[in-house]
Amino acid sequence: MADLKKLTQQFIDIYGGTAEGIRAFHAPGRVNLIGEHTDYNGGYVFPAALTFGTTLLARERSDNQLGLASTNFELRKHIAVSPIVYDEADDWMNYPKGIVNVLQQRGLTLEHGYDLLYHGEIPNGAGLSSSASIEVVTAYALLKLAGQSTNTVEIAKLAQKSENEFNGVQCGIMDQFAVANGLKDHAILLMCDTLEFERVPFNSGQYKLIIGNTNKRRGLVDSKYNERRSECEQAVKDLQAAFPERTLLGQYSVDEFNANAHLIQSDIVRARARHVVEEIDRVVQSMAVLKKNDLAAFGQLMNASHDSLRDLYEVTGAELDAMVDAARTVPGVLGSRMTGAGFGGCTVSLVHEDSVEQFQAEVGRKYKEATGLDADFYVCTIGNGVEEIKIIGVDL
Ligand code: GLA
Repeated sequence: MADLKKLTQQFIDIYGGTAEGIRAFHAPGRVNLIGEHTDYNGGYVFPAALTFGTTLLARERSDNQLGLASTNFELRKHIAVSPIVYDEADDWMNYPKGIVNVLQQRGLTLEHGYDLLYHGEIPNGAGLSSSASIEVVTAYALLKLAGQSTNTVEIAKLAQKSENEFNGVQCGIMDQFAVANGLKDHAILLMCDTLEFERVPFNSGQYKLIIGNTNKRRGLVDSKYNERRSECEQAVKDLQAAFPERTLLGQYSVDEFNANAHLIQSDIVRARARHVVEEIDRVVQSMAVLKKNDLAAFGQLMNASHDSLRDLYEVTGAELDAMVDAARTVPGVLGSRMTGAGFGGCTVSLVHEDSVEQFQAEVGRKYKEATGLDADFYVCTIGNGVEEIKIIGVDL
């Protein structure tokens, strides 16, 4: 968690005034434990919020300007709260701008502006949802400051809408949902079609979740991501020869899919669809084995998930595969897989607590040998979703 005292001082250095009226908010990053590329297909996902994310300090202004600044980027400016227009040169600021834009579409008129200072602890482009974290913390803060409802399911929906429509990324709902609705020590079982969800205690006992950052920037991720989405839509269309009323791959059981897969014309599209249908089933199986505390079986499902993302969905790439391969050779590792969109980014592994150091040393070394890149590791604790936090130790 950020040093709020220091951040408050930075806020005052940038925007002037005193600490009076400054409020602080935090939204985490997320890691998805299993259920990858299933959200936009109306299937299950099983993500968890991290303890690190984006901290936002906000203070009301008397005019209608919006001050945007970050401790992570040089770029900062003041803009009018309306009209809000996308501008590539505005870089990270397009995320908060998108939120203001969507809030206004929903009828929330900002009576006045705000000065905002962001502090991000999520490595950019690592696939741990830094953009969803900025979006959700912005929406939550602005709604709270305006005295409006901060229903976190609604916030997730509007943050996704902002990313889809303002930022042009066709992501599903998983990231924004996890960031908005996470709970300490719980993962979220979410049915992305209905948004029914359950917070499931994640008791990994003597095992730790370790996130491995490949530090491979996720090149081409948006175009490849959108390509996978249209392949899934093609599979749905082909299957409509037998099931005209079904609109999502998530509506097929594995057995139904197997019986009708021949209707899908292209081999590639069939493989993509098979991944989706089987991955959704793996989430369901995960719930059953986790209920029995069978972490070894959950680890096997994590492995099967990665293998399917590698062979059928083809979104892993050399770096993620090298890191997962290295992880699986370390004793005490129950499972290892990529997490997030893929094409670079991070892996998540379930590792015995006695093997954590060995894991980092060995996987780091083997990964470097294979790719020439240095890996980073974070031993992960599951944190809360978006919330207001108290600034303590600062004289107001
Ligand atoms: C990205 C998207 C999510 C989801 C994952 C893959 O993180 O933002 O909506 O589709 O990829 O599971």
